[in-house]
Amino acid sequence: MTISKTILKPQTSMFPLPVVVVSCASEEHGANLITLAWAGTLCSIPPTIGISINPLRHSHAIVDQSKEFVVNLPSVSQQDIVTFCGVESGRNTDKFAHLGLTAGKAETLKYAPILAEFAINIECVVTRQVDLGSHTLFLGEIKATQVSDSVLDKDGKISTRLADPIAYAGSRYYALGDAYPLRRN
Ligand SMILES: Cc1cc2nc3c(=O)[nH]c(=O)nc-3n(C[C@H](O)[C@H](O)[C@H](O)COP(=O)(O)O)c2cc1C
Repeated sequence: MTISKTILKPQTSMFPLPVVVVSCASEEHGANLITLAWAGTLCSIPPTIGISINPLRHSHAIVDQSKEFVVNLPSVSQQDIVTFCGVESGRNTDKFAHLGLTAGKAETLKYAPILAEFAINIECVVTRQVDLGSHTLFLGEIKATQVSDSVLDKDGKISTRLADPIAYAGSRYYALGDAYPLRRN
């Protein structure tokens, strides 16, 4: 069977993406929050996350200076925070103060705080950065993960159902739907 296909010009079309709020801080700029959809798990040993930030963002200078960041995972109920941190700039607004959020202590980092109100906080140290063009890819080695008891199941594992994460596709947020076990035929 032939499937009819249309060829699109080169563009970023992958979906769904995770939505995260990254917290960062430097001596020069203080603490800030930025919403990112271009973020992903890239390596297990050493555990590594990649985040891609446009150099025009205030957060770019902060991560570039401090070489640290925390990936904070929001739940669907926190989508208004996610949007605010994705449209306002830390150049003009103290996002922590404006939203009444708490910059908590990261266990392993010197500068970047955790976003305490989010249940999962992944602390990262930048190991490499690559100027890709419109965005800089920061590779962050995970040094510790703080997890609220509220999203742990009875076996002490992170429950995606309890965490209720946000997926992003086509400029819209989605909650995860039904779960299906992996099947081999
Ligand atoms: C859902 C969503 C996803 C976003 N993803 C990215 C991203 O992956 N990389 C990026 O540089 N900006 C991204 N942005 C834009 C920044 O979050 C936005 O420009 C923010 O205001 C920058 O804040 P800052 O200047 O305080 O760093 C996204 C915004 C939204 C709403």
